[in-house]
Parts: sequence; structure tokens; C-alpha cells
Amino acid sequence: MLLATPEDTTRLGERIAAALTPGDLVLLSGGLGAGKTYLARAIAHGLGVPEDEAIVSPTFTLMQEYTTHRASIVHADLYRLRESAAGLDVEIARLGLRERRAEGAIVLVEWGEDAISALGGAPDLVVSLVPAGATSRVATLKGPRAAAFGGGEPGTSL
Ligand SMILES: Nc1ncnc2c1ncn2[C@@H]1O[C@H](COP(=O)(O)OP(=O)(O)OP(=O)(O)O)[C@@H](O)[C@H]1O
Ligand SMILES: [Mg+2]
Repeated sequence: MLLATPEDTTRLGERIAAALTPGDLVLLSGGLGAGKTYLARAIAHGLGVPEDEAIVSPTFTLMQEYTTHRASIVHADLYRLRESAAGLDVEIARLGLRERRAEGAIVLVEWGEDAISALGGAPDLVVSLVPAGATSRVATLKGPRAAAFGGGEPGTSL
């Protein structure tokens, strides 16, 4: 689907939030600056993180956690761990992402495509974002939670 403006991305995040259930793994896929953190923010707000609570990019902190009445939310960015000497799977184990998911946290992961088994197995939703212009993105949704979006194929309306 086409996200013509950041506001469309916010709206998609709210709709994704409504489709998620405890223990869901959401992979946010796409290159640097594609909008993964932007979308994660919208999902977290949709899950009840107050609008005035800052959702910072976990680029440096690796992982941020939020708790709302609806869910525990873990937002991780594995980019900096991909070159880790210990190996990505070991680093993910250190962060405890699989356990957090098993406990029912909704886990949103940037740069996690190469570590699905360390993240506890098949993602419930994969959102791929590709820049289509200065303010536009093409989003493709896959996985069980994508059913609510007509499969999220390009061309599907938001
Ligand atoms: N339609 C859109 N949806 C989302 N972001 C958009 C859109 N149009 C422009 N942007 C801008 O693109 C940037 C996306 O940055 P963001 O930090 O979300 O990228 P990222 O995919 O998380 O990158 P990184 O891999 O570096 O973490 C933001 O500055 C945002 O305002
Ligand atoms: Mg990011």
C-alpha cells in the first residue's frame, strides 16, 4: 500500500496496533531512514503509550520498553549488533527478547530479519517499507496479522 505522507504511516501504525495480540513479534524491515522507527512509534502510541511520552529510537540503547494498560511493548534495533563478535543470536539472548515475547510482550524489531529463531520463531507481522519519494513510502505487510489488511499487497488501500 502507498503511504503518501507520514500521517498515513501514523494511521497504519494505529491499525496495526489494533490487530496485535500479546507475544506478537513484528519485524520492521527497510533501509536506513525508511520509517521503521516512525512506524514503531505509531504502533506504540496505538497500543496506549501516551502521545506526550517520547518514544526514542533504540539505535543506541538497543532496546526500549513501554507498559500500557493494553500491553508491554519492547522496541529493539539490532543494527549495531549485526557485526557483534559474539554473534547476533547471542546478543539477542542477552537482551532477553525471546523471553520477553514468551511472557506476552509485543516485540517490535528493526533489523531483525536475520535472527528470527533467536527472536522466538516466525514473526506475526512483517512490515517492509520502501521510500517512494520525500514523504511517501510503499508498505508491504506479510504474516498472520497482515490478514486484517487484505494481505497488504501493493495497491491495497490504507
Ligand atoms: N510516509 C512516511 N512514513 C514514515 N516516515 C517518513 C515518511 N515520509 C517521510 N518520513 C521521514 O523519514 C524518516 C524515517 O526515519 P526513521 O528513524 O523512522 O527511519 P528508520 O527506518 O527507523 O531508520 P534506521 O534504520 O536508521 O533506524 C523520518 O524523518 C520521517 O519523518
Ligand atoms: Mg530506526
